[in-house]
Amino acid sequence: MQAIILAGGFGTRLAPLTYTKAKPILPLLNKPMISYLIEALPQNFEVIVAANYRNEQLKEYFKEMGIKAIISKEPKPLGTAGAVKNAEKYINDTFLVLNSDIISSLNIRKFIQYHVKKKAMVTISLWPVKNVEEYGVVDLQSDGRIRKFVEKPPRHEAPSNLINAGAYCLETEVLDYIEPNRFVSMEMEIFPKIIEDGKPFYGYTFDGYWIDVGRYSSYIEASKILLKKRGIKYLVGDSKVEGILKESTVGNNCIIEKNVIVKSSIIYDKCIIGENAYLENCIVADNCRIGKNAKLKNVVIGEGEKIGDNVVIENDETWETIWNKPLPEGYPDKQIGNPIKR
Ligand code: GTP
Repeated sequence: MQAIILAGGFGTRLAPLTYTKAKPILPLLNKPMISYLIEALPQNFEVIVAANYRNEQLKEYFKEMGIKAIISKEPKPLGTAGAVKNAEKYINDTFLVLNSDIISSLNIRKFIQYHVKKKAMVTISLWPVKNVEEYGVVDLQSDGRIRKFVEKPPRHEAPSNLINAGAYCLETEVLDYIEPNRFVSMEMEIFPKIIEDGKPFYGYTFDGYWIDVGRYSSYIEASKILLKKRGIKYLVGDSKVEGILKESTVGNNCIIEKNVIVKSSIIYDKCIIGENAYLENCIVADNCRIGKNAKLKNVVIGEGEKIGDNVVIENDETWETIWNKPLPEGYPDKQIGNPIKR
């Protein structure tokens, strides 16, 4: 069976981290986040990676890991459905489409079995949320069939609390719905059309955990949940740490000096954090330097940036990003893929 991994988005909500790295390659517990998805796939799957932005980093990852994968490159970003259509030549039967930025406990075998049992054309994974008014939720029949999607309903009018969890099992007929060489969204254009045509479209709810690692807060949350799952309070690669780490990760070749406190943060590789610095809810990309006595809260620092001694940047609800270089060429200045997601 084949699985198309959608990995070509710009990841604008995670900029400036994504100015230099493709989102699926961003580290989560010091491993590229796409590796969690690869590990969850049953062994006999043929992996097709729908890539575009920084696809060379994805090629490199699969090569380094010795994992066989077809990199299906788009000439330009084609959206979540356009990317699938672009990979049509590799598909010959029922197939999966998986968002690369979702970390979840979805059991892929059970998901496919459900799809086959229901004789569905489309089955999407579903996850319950509390804040329905921020999402698109499904209107579901008791047998699991989806009647429609309802965008951001007021809480008292919501037909369910279940949202699209970013994994799909599809029959090849779905490909006929997607116009080639055009930017097409699976969620906004193709799925509503298939439901409207009365085709068998089902939802599969699962237990455990689900995190969309698309925003700063959920990226840090994902890191904390995975640490907890492993029963550890922090994770350090090959680095020198003299300070204190709480619910945080530190990559390789970093120096965390004396009396530093790093709380609920993700530090990539080759960073230096000076004495007495305090970091909370921070994401620090490769090769950064944080000065002595700096105090940072809710700050995201792009690759190679420097924060001086004694600098204080403290936010509570909002986030501050540090990036003092030009934007990479061709990088959009706003979200282009799925404006439903925030
Ligand atoms: P934002 O810009 O922050 O919204 O991130 P994104 O560009 O990754 O978009 P989104 O989170 O909606 O994407 C969901 C999944 O689809 C991710 O795994 C993306 O990598 C992937 N994706 C989004 N747009 C495209 C595209 O045009 N081509 C391909 N191949 N993948 C895409």
